[in-house]
Amino acid sequence: MKKRSIRLAASLCALSCAAFFAATLGSLVHPPFTSTANAAETPTPLLTDTALLQHGANLAAIGDCVVCHTANRSAPFAGDRPLDTPFGTIYSTNITPDRKTGIGDWTLSDFTRSMRRGVARDGHLLYPAFPYPHFTHMTDTDIAALYVYLMSRDAVQSTAPANRLTFPFSVRPLIAAWNLFFLHPGVEVNGEAPAEPATHDAQLIRGKYLIDGPAHCAACHTPTNLLGAEKRGDAFDGNVIEGWEAPALTTLLSAPEPWTHDQLAAYLRTGFADQHGAAAGPMRAVTQSLTNASDADIDAMATYLLSLQKPAETSRRESSKATQQTAQANMNNIGNGATLFSAACASCHATNAPMTTLGSRPSLALGTAVNAHDPRNALRMILDGIPTDRSTRAAFMPGFADTFTNAQIADLAAYLRSTFSSQPAWTLDEADVERLRKESHEP
Ligand code: HEC
Ligand code: HEC
Ligand code: HEC
Repeated sequence: MKKRSIRLAASLCALSCAAFFAATLGSLVHPPFTSTANAAETPTPLLTDTALLQHGANLAAIGDCVVCHTANRSAPFAGDRPLDTPFGTIYSTNITPDRKTGIGDWTLSDFTRSMRRGVARDGHLLYPAFPYPHFTHMTDTDIAALYVYLMSRDAVQSTAPANRLTFPFSVRPLIAAWNLFFLHPGVEVNGEAPAEPATHDAQLIRGKYLIDGPAHCAACHTPTNLLGAEKRGDAFDGNVIEGWEAPALTTLLSAPEPWTHDQLAAYLRTGFADQHGAAAGPMRAVTQSLTNASDADIDAMATYLLSLQKPAETSRRESSKATQQTAQANMNNIGNGATLFSAACASCHATNAPMTTLGSRPSLALGTAVNAHDPRNALRMILDGIPTDRSTRAAFMPGFADTFTNAQIADLAAYLRSTFSSQPAWTLDEADVERLRKESHEP
């Protein structure tokens, strides 16, 4: 931990020099924003164009704008939601059309600039927790549709609390350096939206556009460097985000049951798929938002995802018969875990459990959590469960954080691993569970 902050400090020193340079250079290239620059352009969104509104609504669903920008369900898009980053807490801002506290006074070009370059209307730089490094790839037409959609929402008066970031991340102008290195601005496209998916190729192109642009899947699924920027060479190789592991999206063919196009589409659209675990943690909110996306776009994303797959690793699927691993794991722990499992989990998870008829609940053996190299998501699942949500079909699992001790949870995990997976035993103890308990997370 210590080592990490020292390295971080060193790279930041280098960065701050670069930032100063970039900020100076930046103000030469792009003169500082003055409010008169856009005086002639007043916000006159086409709020009556239903096709455009629908187009914007679809993109907002794909971009999960409402997920990050809503703290209080009765005030969608009003911001205030705290986002935990390795550098501290950032609050999302109010993007309702309220003129004082939201973006009601923003022109389309103000909005476009924020989406493409991460610059707010008054000229301050926005943190890349706002996924503008992805939104920058959206077409002008799509950004305009989003703008019109947001402007048609209810205005809410609300101002986000101040961010709580550690120094030097609290210094906004440093973002200029970050952008210099890590923002790869999109091409300003004035033309039409990409072609409708008709052929397989068109679907691939559309899927890539959506996944890299508005859907910003890599923001969670790609490993990041010390400054929180995605490592482009390792795209979609998995990352830890908000206390959960966002698994690699390049090894979907190595799952116990290789993912099919239809399973992926179903998972993205509903959070469920035959033969795979349900979406939980931060992925759940993503799928809840994607429920409102068009079927054609979901299909296009599934098609593109499948094109990213590495050849299946048979070793991950075949039982290596090294189930002798259990010998290494403490049989006592597994025994304790088995007792706890039959008391607390079997009603839902045992084969032929009466509750397996409730929704589609595949065997735990098919999910990524118990087969993953890292026990994180299995532990996270036991601690947090899956909260109920009246708006979706039943997938509820109680959290057991308050029911079980750290030792009991570690025993349960050891039992799950030995029973439902042929992968080598996890080495984990109470301290690992305690660490996850304390981590910020998203139930
Ligand atoms: C992962 C979380 C996240 C998602 C998803 C997200 N935003 Fe944001 N957004 C933020 C945060 C955090 C900020 C504030 C950044 C700051 O203050 O530096 C922000 C700021 C903004 C701003 C600048 C507002 C201002 O007051 O300066 C706009 C505009 C915006 N977002 C639009 C959108 C749109 C449109 C979408 C969906 C296409 C979206 N955001 C999706 C986190 C998110
Ligand atoms: C806010 C972070 C976040 C975003 C954005 C996100 N994911 Fe995820 N994703 C996760 C996490 C965390 C998990 C693991 C949760 C679980 O297994 O229940 C996950 C799981 C998945 C899985 C299941 C993988 C498996 O092996 O079981 C797929 C498929 C997936 N995501 C695809 C996507 C796609 C496609 C997008 C973009 C449309 C996306 N994700 C955007 C965080 C995210
Ligand atoms: C009320 C029913 C219920 C109970 C009780 C329950 N679960 Fe679950 N569990 C679910 C549902 C629903 C899911 C999501 C569907 C899925 O992924 O299989 C789930 C998913 C999981 C997963 C993730 C599977 C994956 O790879 O995505 C794990 C691990 C898990 N449960 C472990 C446990 C353990 C351990 C217990 C007991 C301490 C338990 N569950 C108790 C309903 C339940």
